Amino acid sequence: MKKYMINNRAGVSELVLEEAQPSALGERDVEIQVTHSGLGLIDALQFSGVMGDMQGHTPGLEVEGFIRTVGAAVTNLQEGDRVAAMCFGAGLATVLVTHSDFVVKIDERMPAGMGAISLVNTVTAKESLSIARTIGRFERVLVHAGVGGLGTQFGQIASMLDAKHIDAVVGNDEKAILAKDMGYHDVYYRHALSDIPEDFYDVVIDSVGAQATTSSFEKLRSGGRVIKVGNSSGKEAQQFDSLKFWFENKTVIGFNVGLWIMEDTERAHAAMEWAVEQVAEGAIRIPYEVRPVAQLEDSLADLLNGKVMGKLVVEW
Ligand SMILES: NC(=O)c1ccc[n+]([C@@H]2O[C@H](COP(=O)([O-])OP(=O)(O)OC[C@H]3O[C@@H](n4cnc5c(N)ncnc54)[C@H](OP(=O)(O)O)[C@@H]3O)[C@@H](O)[C@H]2O)c1
Repeated sequence: MKKYMINNRAGVSELVLEEAQPSALGERDVEIQVTHSGLGLIDALQFSGVMGDMQGHTPGLEVEGFIRTVGAAVTNLQEGDRVAAMCFGAGLATVLVTHSDFVVKIDERMPAGMGAISLVNTVTAKESLSIARTIGRFERVLVHAGVGGLGTQFGQIASMLDAKHIDAVVGNDEKAILAKDMGYHDVYYRHALSDIPEDFYDVVIDSVGAQATTSSFEKLRSGGRVIKVGNSSGKEAQQFDSLKFWFENKTVIGFNVGLWIMEDTERAHAAMEWAVEQVAEGAIRIPYEVRPVAQLEDSLADLLNGKVMGKLVVEW
């Protein structure tokens, strides 16, 4: 097998394609011949060095492919099944060994490559919004980076969960057009956050950090919640004034899908099944582009520069 490994020491930032042996197969693991790897900003941030020393790490959180081998205790999957799978790094490789709980079958309704982008963001949006929805009013939602890979899922799933007024923040005109096409009500620009009404939203999705974070609390009305799910800006953590939680009746919810799926793998598997079904049915849309693996480093640069709308998929 081949896998990409980060070399980001001594001022260098590169991905090196190396020959390697697949990991040992546990009895509940499966080995997947990877046809497509999904790319997210996290992969680019790891590669860039913003996330510290990632020497030797293989990025990639989700893949599509075919089962090559199953462990002795795996009963729900078999050799040849076409699958989507989540992993914890290691996805940018031609072969992936992962636990069968993190693997779901996909069918011909999914175009090639779509399996590699239908798990991480869709599950993150569904589960974190479902938590936020139990806490209070769920009518008005604001999604920062509303047409990023994660953002597209938040907008649509907020609507599925019956939010009535869903707005987006985006970085440029092209993204604003896509945001309207994706069904957002009002669309604001990242460089003009002061245009967004204050004391208005029940939920603000912050995957961006920096000014998006500092402004989020002001945009909430009483009872509102910020869902903190990322830090696309790569900037240092912003602080919330904890007294405002009390005085203004506001809350911050954190959600990390990697930790969440480890806590209850059965529940996680059900969430993954739900996600691929919604995507396969067309109930959830993921704008995406498939690129050859030769364009990997350019693709990571595009992610770092905020040029991507929706998702990128690497084809092996
Ligand atoms: N909590 C979880 O479990 C979870 C799951 C998936 C992803 N994430 C996190 O969510 C964040 C977004 O991931 P993604 O894969 O959706 O990213 P993405 O598709 O690349 O979208 C990121 C968007 O953020 C905006 N942005 C603002 N400042 C930026 C900057 N300095 N550099 C790049 N983009 C910037 C851009 O949109 P505009 O131009 O429209 O502002 C960009 O398109 C990442 O921090 C990722 O780690 C978390």
